[in-house]
Amino acid sequence: MKITFYGHASLGIEVDDVSILVDPFISPNEKAAHINIETLKADYILLTHAHEDHVADVEAIAKRTNAVIVSNAEIVAYFNRKSLEGHPMNHGGKWDFEFGTVKYVNAIHSSSFADGSNGGNPGGFVIEGERKNIYIAGDTALTYDMKLIPKHTKLDLAILPIGDNFTMGVDDALIASDFVACDKILGYHFDTFGYIEIDHEDAKRKFFNKDKDLMLLEIGESIEL
Ligand code: NI
Ligand code: MN
Repeated sequence: MKITFYGHASLGIEVDDVSILVDPFISPNEKAAHINIETLKADYILLTHAHEDHVADVEAIAKRTNAVIVSNAEIVAYFNRKSLEGHPMNHGGKWDFEFGTVKYVNAIHSSSFADGSNGGNPGGFVIEGERKNIYIAGDTALTYDMKLIPKHTKLDLAILPIGDNFTMGVDDALIASDFVACDKILGYHFDTFGYIEIDHEDAKRKFFNKDKDLMLLEIGESIEL
């Protein structure tokens, strides 16, 4: 499994020959100006919630690639009305896709589209690939619901928001990593705008001091699991 950070909360995941994009917000992000959405591959687009900083590039990419949009039922219905294909889910449900099993799990946040349309309730994803398991928290507060995840899944990586203000900050993300029982963390949802700028070294040190590894990738950088 290869994971690429496209800035903010946007991720590319490659499992064998399948390309998955998560929460594409790339073309409006000045810090991601070197990423061209016209060349990104997508068989699936996973959306945690409807906020513009997670869905801005969905239409353009899905129209070009015919990617299947996987999200809550309200978000999929919204894109269905734009003639885009989707797979609707809701909290606690899982589905076996060609690349692995996806479960839509709880997040504490909000979820409306920029035009005011109903974006359902926000979530995160647990993806059980053939060899590796990951958790993508989405925008969320720290919540005890995260303790349910390791009851089913032994995670190889937890992708957690760390920017504070709109989501968990570093200190709560550290507790979240305990709740989901994973010591390897990829931080996201930081530095994009003024409200969520963080001190990278301080954040990494806090995790290091608890024998955990916080990775912060450059935009466009990948890791292999
Ligand atoms: Ni949000
Ligand atoms: Mn957000």
